[in-house]
Amino acid sequence: MSRGVFVTGTGTGVGKTVVATALARALRARGIDVGVMKPAETGVTAAGPEDARALREAAGTDDALELICPQTFALPAAPSVAAAHEGRRVDLAAIDAAFETLAARHPFLVVEGAGGLLVPLRHDTTMADLAARLSLPLLVVARGALGTIHDTLATLEAARTRGLALAGVVISHVDGPLSEADALNLRALTDTVIDDLVGVIPPLEPGEHPAADALRTDAILARAGRGPIPAGDRTRLAG
Ligand SMILES: Nc1ncnc2c1ncn2[C@@H]1O[C@H](COP(=O)(O)OP(=O)(O)OP(=O)(O)O)[C@@H](O)[C@H]1O
Ligand SMILES: [Mg+2]
Repeated sequence: MSRGVFVTGTGTGVGKTVVATALARALRARGIDVGVMKPAETGVTAAGPEDARALREAAGTDDALELICPQTFALPAAPSVAAAHEGRRVDLAAIDAAFETLAARHPFLVVEGAGGLLVPLRHDTTMADLAARLSLPLLVVARGALGTIHDTLATLEAARTRGLALAGVVISHVDGPLSEADALNLRALTDTVIDDLVGVIPPLEPGEHPAADALRTDAILARAGRGPIPAGDRTRLAG
């Protein structure tokens, strides 16, 4: 089995945390000791990293938040931008070290990226590069509403071009119930990606968790184990 999945999306606010936390809960319910990570979180206030906290609660681990989220920044922007704003640079070695520690503690890790797949972590490193660096297949979260066909296919093409493995696509109805036009539009997308579709999160009430069967957890696990990149081939970028 692969060591986990990298939850990315077609952009920011598309439902990555909702999907990542639902997956962590579903794995726990199967008796799998799941660890979680948000390598870099931006828009972090004095209250601490919200995504990291939600992920930890879902996984039910007691790993330190500094381990789950080793890089935090105040500016709500792409990590490279938020880091530069503080005169910093995202520390890839710190992310590697935290990942290795968590991977040694837990047999499966759910890692949530920031923003979409090509968002810069540093000027020379995107989220896609980070997924490759961690040797994790992508779980791509897409919105249900208008605009999702392009955003999703562009994300999948970017993943394919980079040789990244795909653990699946999840549609999240983050924009609420769809109009008839939007529903037909979404159908055109799901028909196209049907072989990779591993979940649909319906419109949720505030604070509501997705139902246990919203994700095809077994399919995600099977696909995550299908094509792990051998350790020797792991992309190592300049630290
Ligand atoms: N299916 C859904 N139905 C209703 N609301 C949703 C749904 N999915 C996500 N949301 C809400 O939309 C907002 C964005 O979702 P979420 O935080 O999961 O996105 P994200 O991709 O993780 O964002 P970020 O890029 O900030 O990490 C949240 O308030 C969340 O509760
Ligand atoms: Mg999030």
